[in-house]
Parts: sequence; C-alpha cells; structure tokens
Amino acid sequence: MITIREAGPADLASIGDLLARSGLPDDDIGDGRVEFLVAESDGEIVGTIGLESYPPVGLLRSAAVDTRMRGRGIGRQLVSGLAVRARKTGFTRLVLLTTTAEKFFYDAGFRKIERRSLSGGILGSTQFTGSRCASAAVMAADLAEFPADVRPVRSPPVS
Ligand SMILES: CC(C)(COP(=O)(O)OP(=O)(O)OC[C@H]1O[C@@H](n2cnc3c(N)ncnc32)[C@H](O)[C@@H]1OP(=O)(O)O)[C@@H](O)C(=O)NCCC(=O)NCCS
Repeated sequence: MITIREAGPADLASIGDLLARSGLPDDDIGDGRVEFLVAESDGEIVGTIGLESYPPVGLLRSAAVDTRMRGRGIGRQLVSGLAVRARKTGFTRLVLLTTTAEKFFYDAGFRKIERRSLSGGILGSTQFTGSRCASAAVMAADLAEFPADVRPVRSPPVS
C-alpha cells in the first residue's frame, strides 16, 4: 500500500538519494526552504515532491518516483496532495520548471507560461538560477481551479 505523508528531517537523506537517482538536484534540500511530501511503500520512500514558498505562489519542485514504481499513479497523487496542502495553507498558484515531464504536468492541470510573466523572489530560487533553467519549460496552475481528482495507485502493467 502507498501512503502519502509529510516528510520530516529524518527523511531528508532518503529524499536526497531518490532525487539523485532520478537525475534531479539535491544540494539545497536541507536548507529549510522546501517542504516535502513523500510516498511510502512498506516503510520505504518511493516518491517525493517539494514545495518552496514564495507566498502567494508555491514553487513545485523535486518531483520524483522510484523507477521501479513509475507509471502507477504515484506521481499524480503526490502532485494532487501537494496542491491540496498548498491551497489549505493559503497559496493561490503553483509554478514549476521542467525539462523532462511537461506532458505529465500538463495532464495534471498545469499550463505553460512565459517566464517573463513571473516576478519577485521566485526568480532568485535555485530552480530558476540553476544551469538547467534556460532549457526548462515554465508551467503554472491556479489552485482555485486545480482538478481535485486523485485516482487510486495502480498495479504495475502486466507485460
Ligand atoms: C515525472 C514522475 C515524477 C512521474 O511519476 P509517476 O509515478 O511515474 O507518474 P504517474 O504514474 O502518476 O503518471 C501519471 C500519468 O503521466 C504519465 N507520465 C508519467 N511520467 C511522465 C513523463 N515523464 N512524461 C510524460 N508522461 C508521463 C503516465 O504515463 C501517466 O499517464 P496515464 O495516467 O495516462 O497512464 C516520474 O516519471 C519521475 O520521477 N521522473 C524522473 C524525475 C523527473 O523528471 N521529475 C520531474 C522534474 S520537474
């Protein structure tokens, strides 16, 4: 069974390991700016997603699911869980950068936006100043309209 829960300090090492294995940066995850949700299966962290705070905008980042567990809906559950949590705590919009998963986020309700439409502290985040940023798509979703649907986690496809 997959459980989605808030991460604590004791989870940071596993989160960093999962991000590194997924080809995502993990160097700033312990600096206290990012809150994480994790997906757990049999006590093992198999997915994660982070929220960096630039009120009223949340920067969705560090979305990763263990390669063995992809394609079952865990990533989608993490996105929905993060959106629900962000809306409850007063965020109105989520923004993200992606070089690898534009369709995944489009299907989840995000749309591409112009980078120059953003302003403020979010542009100083490591996500926006990092080397991959130039080639990344910028996407956003308004939380008031965000789809609430969370489909159950699926079994792996039979091959
Ligand atoms: C992106 C990622 C988190 C998705 O996790 P996941 O658990 O496999 O996603 P889900 O199973 O919830 O996928 C939901 C849908 O998106 C599709 N999808 C998943 N990853 C996708 C991707 N990278 N590109 C396009 N579509 C994708 C799935 O096929 C599924 O479609 P379906 O419901 O029609 O079958 C995972 O692929 C991953 O860790 N990728 C490597 C790290 C990464 O690129 N993260 C994004 C950084 S911004």
